[in-house]
Amino acid sequence: MKVVHTIEALRDQLRGQLRVAFVPTMGNLHAAHLSLMRMARQHGDPVVASIFVNRLQFGPNEDFDQYPRTLEGDIEKLERERDVYALFAPNEREMYPEPQNFKIQPAQALGSILEGEFRPGFFMGVSTVVLKLFSCVQPRVAVFGKKDYQQLMVVRSMCRQFQLPVEILAHETVRDPDGLAMSSRNRFLAPDERAEAPELYAALQRVRDEVLGGDVDLAGIEARTAAQLDGRGWQVDYVALRRQRDLLPPETDEVRNGEPLVVLAAARLGTTRLIDNLELAFTP
Ligand code: PAF
Repeated sequence: MKVVHTIEALRDQLRGQLRVAFVPTMGNLHAAHLSLMRMARQHGDPVVASIFVNRLQFGPNEDFDQYPRTLEGDIEKLERERDVYALFAPNEREMYPEPQNFKIQPAQALGSILEGEFRPGFFMGVSTVVLKLFSCVQPRVAVFGKKDYQQLMVVRSMCRQFQLPVEILAHETVRDPDGLAMSSRNRFLAPDERAEAPELYAALQRVRDEVLGGDVDLAGIEARTAAQLDGRGWQVDYVALRRQRDLLPPETDEVRNGEPLVVLAAARLGTTRLIDNLELAFTP
């Protein structure tokens, strides 16, 4: 695997390649990332991964400084898997050589709800860096995990709006055997928090079962679920049942008529903020 740190070296490596499949990451790679690489391998060649901890998407009180940076170990993992042709690992000066005066701002309706409400500026930071990375890598396809459901939708929306010739592929959330969605932030959980953490996914499964069982009082289900988690020591930002197509709350009639829904949640255990989601499948 070629490891390149500059845009120029990356372009040299990729000259003439028209079927690049790209997996952007912030590093601290785990099994879910490696699964994204395998999916990329099935949809393009060569596969390019990136590792860049993007300051622009972290709020002032968030964990930018603490975010795990494990480049050597990440390189070893990618080498072992053999799916990735080139790793682009720029430093901050390479990605942001001057103050970032041009920033991509997702539309209010999608960018300012849910994660956008609790992490102002997050989707601006994600969109801006992803657009830059796409411009450096020029992929034909790019793979994103469904754990960051709203991020995936923001990136898809950006590609449509700017007519970017990149197909965005969604990878199912990869979970530990007890149901906890894999995330680089799981390593911050103390042992008792790690034992409690799968409860978030369990709560989403209960929500799914209640809705599929015919309960259309979505606000009631959301409030009950948030209260249950709070009662177990979580600090819940949101539990939200939304339409898959735009993440807006569905009308009751839409729920009755089988509108595809997704339940999304964000909650903190101690100082670690976890997010997760679950799509609800109606069988007609
Ligand atoms: O999901 C992530 O790891 C990041 O938000 C991304 C897409 C690599 C942008 O920094």
